[in-house]
Amino acid sequence: MLRLPRRGATRPLPYHMFDRARFGLEARNARQLERIYHQSQERAWDGAAVLNGLVEEHGRPRVDPEKRPALARLFAVIMWGELAAWKISAALADELVPFEAKMAATSQAYDEARHFFVMHDYLEMLGAMPDHLDRPIERLLSAVMNADHLAKKLIGMQLMVEPVALSVFHVVRELDVEPVLTGLLPYFQRDEARHVALGLKYLPAMIRQMSTRERVDLMGFQLRLVTMELWGSVGLMRDYKALGIDPRVAVEVARAKQKRALDLLLTEMGLVSKMPLELLDRYGSSLMEALLPADDISLRERLRRSARAAAWGKQPIDESLADEIKTPAA
Ligand SMILES: [Fe+2]
Ligand SMILES: [Fe+2]
Repeated sequence: MLRLPRRGATRPLPYHMFDRARFGLEARNARQLERIYHQSQERAWDGAAVLNGLVEEHGRPRVDPEKRPALARLFAVIMWGELAAWKISAALADELVPFEAKMAATSQAYDEARHFFVMHDYLEMLGAMPDHLDRPIERLLSAVMNADHLAKKLIGMQLMVEPVALSVFHVVRELDVEPVLTGLLPYFQRDEARHVALGLKYLPAMIRQMSTRERVDLMGFQLRLVTMELWGSVGLMRDYKALGIDPRVAVEVARAKQKRALDLLLTEMGLVSKMPLELLDRYGSSLMEALLPADDISLRERLRRSARAAAWGKQPIDESLADEIKTPAA
């Protein structure tokens, strides 16, 4: 049962939750999922203590008044994104049936709650409390939160939204905008990289049990998410620029991380053909050339580059940009 039950439908206790074979879950993957839970406990950090320690070390966070609105808008995406991740992982903890996957999702909900309150407290200290999100990003998070299928929630959250959050952390950390923030980000990054593993270890079993129609529907869902992500980047372009970040570089970092996550998923599934991934990448790259053009090029040149990316794909990716995204050790 992967399609979500009607609201209000009665759900019995899942006595079959330990029957891995029924869910197509291999023993090795189940063990790794269970380990995500235990690692999350071992590596849990005290959000309030870490934030206060950084403030003691560097002083109260402060940023140039001209940069503050841009940072607030960029981190609005992170703060509300953390809330979305919290809601989705709490829903997965409830809805996923296999014991080990449920454990992994439960630990993620605990991590995301910490991410949310730490980011909230930090932004409040900075006087840059975000109000609401740009529409395309709000639609992206809402599409994943309200997806009608567990596979859509998992792929949307763990393999598409998490890598984008990781890419915002990546570029902002390199820029070193503000020392307390720079000190906080590695804590977030470490947890988020672990969250990608839940998708990698449970999705292959889930997808194998889906009908062709459901798989096509899932691919369509991913295309929609990529489209919304790129429209979201257009909205953030001004903010990236104000902070000294080239938006195309930010998108390129996200592309590398997302591609790595999806590539690892195909490998986990034992698929040799990378065709679905290649199609998704060409689609995203073509859209990027159209929506986020390099400076000073004519509309004609913009469309030519977009068509070329669709037909031939894009430049090879700098693989080192996705170093933290890997399959957990067996
Ligand atoms: Fe998070
Ligand atoms: Fe996360």
